[in-house]
Amino acid sequence: MSDDTHARPLASTVTIREMGIDDVAAVFHLGERLFTAKKWPNLYRSWDAHDVMTIVASHNAFCLVAVSNESVVGFALGSSLEKRGSAWRYGYLEWIGVDSSMNGQGIGKRLLNRLTERFIKYGARMMLVDTDMENQAAIQFFKAHGFGNAAPHVYMSRNLTAHPDYVRKKSKPEDTQATVQRQRRPIRVPDAEIAIPEANSA
Ligand SMILES: CC(C)(COP(=O)(O)OP(=O)(O)OC[C@H]1O[C@@H](n2cnc3c(N)ncnc32)[C@H](O)[C@@H]1OP(=O)(O)O)[C@@H](O)C(=O)NCCC(=O)NCCS
Repeated sequence: MSDDTHARPLASTVTIREMGIDDVAAVFHLGERLFTAKKWPNLYRSWDAHDVMTIVASHNAFCLVAVSNESVVGFALGSSLEKRGSAWRYGYLEWIGVDSSMNGQGIGKRLLNRLTERFIKYGARMMLVDTDMENQAAIQFFKAHGFGNAAPHVYMSRNLTAHPDYVRKKSKPEDTQATVQRQRRPIRVPDAEIAIPEANSA
């Protein structure tokens, strides 16, 4: 017996459009399914709804969704980077994800191509991406689309639960109200490009 409700949506039904604030929940939940703690702890830690909202609110033109039958099946969240004293503008692809039931159908490629067009229109001369170094699928995907010059980036962690301040704080419930400031993944703009002075660049 066929079950249409579980049929794999065809990539040809997928459209790419600018992301709106109403898409935040769907994008966030799709990301939660992709960036799991078990698979990619660093990506999992960085992925949160507030960050998605912040990117959309501040860089709406660089946030795209892939939609099939009104469901979000993919997203690309980008932002622009400018460095004072440099004529260079960068497009930073912060997050890209495609529903795993639809991988390999060119949806990621369409999202990336559309975002690239937008970065070029904005005046970016270089696009940056980052991901976990074990994320071979993403690395191959990026390589297939012209990204290179991979530079390793080290993430380190320290368990603070044995720290005397942490232990003290745990014993005083009123202290637990402290505001938690989220730390985003660091992005390193390549120094070599920053150092190149361009007299006639816009
Ligand atoms: C990376 C990702 C976005 C690719 O999306 P996708 O829709 O499956 O990719 P596409 O079908 O558009 O692939 C385009 C090309 O990328 C390459 N590619 C994509 N996935 C690949 C894989 N798993 N292994 C090797 N190459 C791959 C291929 O060259 C492919 O070209 P082809 O169609 O000629 O084979 C998707 O795998 C994903 O969501 N991964 C989980 C989230 C993630 O890790 N995001 C990156 C970090 S933010």
